Amino acid sequence: MQCADEWSCISETGCDCTPFSSWAAVCTLAHILADTMTDSQTDGAAAESPMEFYEKVTAQGEAVRELKTGKAPKEEIDVAVKLLLQLKLDYKRVSGQDYKAGCPPTDSPASGESVPAAAEDGDDLVDPWTVATSNAKGVDYEKLIVRFGSSKIEAELIERMERVTGQKAHRFLRRGIFFSHRRVQQPCPSALDMHQILDAYENKKSFYLYTGRGPSSEAMHMGHLIPFIFTKWLQDVFDIPLVIQLTDDEKYLWKDLTLEDCHRYAVENAKDIIACGFDVNKTFIFSDLDYMGMSSGFYRNVVKIQKHVTFNQVKGIFGFTDSDCIGKISFPAIQAAPSFSTSFPQIFNGRKDIQCLIPCAIDQDPYFRMTRDVAPRIGYPKPALLHSTFFPALQGAQTKMSASDPNSSIFLTDTAKQIKNKINKHAFSGGRDTVEEHRKHGGDADVDVSFMYLTFFLEDDEKLEQIRQDYTSGALLTGELKKCLIETLQPMITQHQERRKQVTDETVKQFMTPRKLDFHF
Ligand code: TRP
Repeated sequence: MQCADEWSCISETGCDCTPFSSWAAVCTLAHILADTMTDSQTDGAAAESPMEFYEKVTAQGEAVRELKTGKAPKEEIDVAVKLLLQLKLDYKRVSGQDYKAGCPPTDSPASGESVPAAAEDGDDLVDPWTVATSNAKGVDYEKLIVRFGSSKIEAELIERMERVTGQKAHRFLRRGIFFSHRRVQQPCPSALDMHQILDAYENKKSFYLYTGRGPSSEAMHMGHLIPFIFTKWLQDVFDIPLVIQLTDDEKYLWKDLTLEDCHRYAVENAKDIIACGFDVNKTFIFSDLDYMGMSSGFYRNVVKIQKHVTFNQVKGIFGFTDSDCIGKISFPAIQAAPSFSTSFPQIFNGRKDIQCLIPCAIDQDPYFRMTRDVAPRIGYPKPALLHSTFFPALQGAQTKMSASDPNSSIFLTDTAKQIKNKINKHAFSGGRDTVEEHRKHGGDADVDVSFMYLTFFLEDDEKLEQIRQDYTSGALLTGELKKCLIETLQPMITQHQERRKQVTDETVKQFMTPRKLDFHF
């Protein structure tokens, strides 16, 4: 069976088409093809089999994207797009199928798990390492949901959450910042999603939360807090255990850092995480470097997962190539393992049936698609997921806030003055060039980064809506909007800094010591 779209099928749908892959894989394929292609081949004339045409379309799609990302002249892009369309027509002619990225022609012997797939339509690049779009409004999340095969968090689910928990939904839910969850994939009965988590809660069955952070530097920025703020809310509302993974091993494997640095960053970052207000009696924070060897359950699960995922599969999902170090290739098993309760025998008393809910930014989804695929095969329930959007960079929603670009980020260590200056100087504005024009035509809140940040952090729904209306009508100027944001963020960050100061080494040690939590399993 061939699936309807390439992103929804890491065999959860039972189809045999290739799971989606990262852009790294596409780039590699494009380079290989580029290396082997002659000019006469690129016009499609020399290709014969459907598979060859398929590969040409894929490579050309990548070429178009590269031109767009590199802001090539319009004429050049137009020519490349025309060629892409022509190749697609040719593909259809020889294969009898519409081109679908990631789904090679069904009858081709070359179609296998190792053929990388691409997000063929649209300009958005989203994988665990890269987030970029050419759209000033940011990534097209509606499209991403379709591509990733997840489900939108509808008003009905939010209402049910409010009913079941008796609490008003967090603003991140009300405003579509946590916007997607993993749906039940029929006919697989063990699949979980947020509805099933709520069923479990209503039936007084416990579940637990799992989230994490890759400690790549000492400095955390505001975007890093989003999953933790939300997870803290979930922990309070549901009163359940939480495990937080600090992937110091991942950062060592991917970045040019020493093991000592990565471990030190893990401990430093733990302080910022703890400052979000987690309850030490309900939360276990761990560094992979420390916990893997210490636990009687964790590494066993890592190995089980490793036994059930092939190199072809991770190549397909993450775009690894033959020249990636083997540490990277096996790392996904380490991020998957905390999704299973037996990884924490001290908390769950060896029980293997405790369901897991993972709040995370949607770029982490590939890890958990893999996890959900493996789970039934090793006798564990699939984790449920809640996905968030990205926190935009100051310069605009084309990319997410990144600690490696200080001007794109508001750090948790910034002073009130730095916050003010950064917002005034760098926050991309949807306002008009002059006050007169702005008053006349109004601003565009959809591309305005200050407004976007307010949707994340201004609690008052009515005030936010008023700001949106006033900005759109031109009654509110960019400077005034920015002032409002500055006044929202400054106290928030100062309070965070004060709470972080209270976090001693002793507190960190408590959170990071494997121990029983205040729950009985
Ligand atoms: N890989 C993530 C990062 O680089 C860290 C992480 C590990 C994570 N486990 C997770 C994030 C679970 C969300 C949920 O940031």
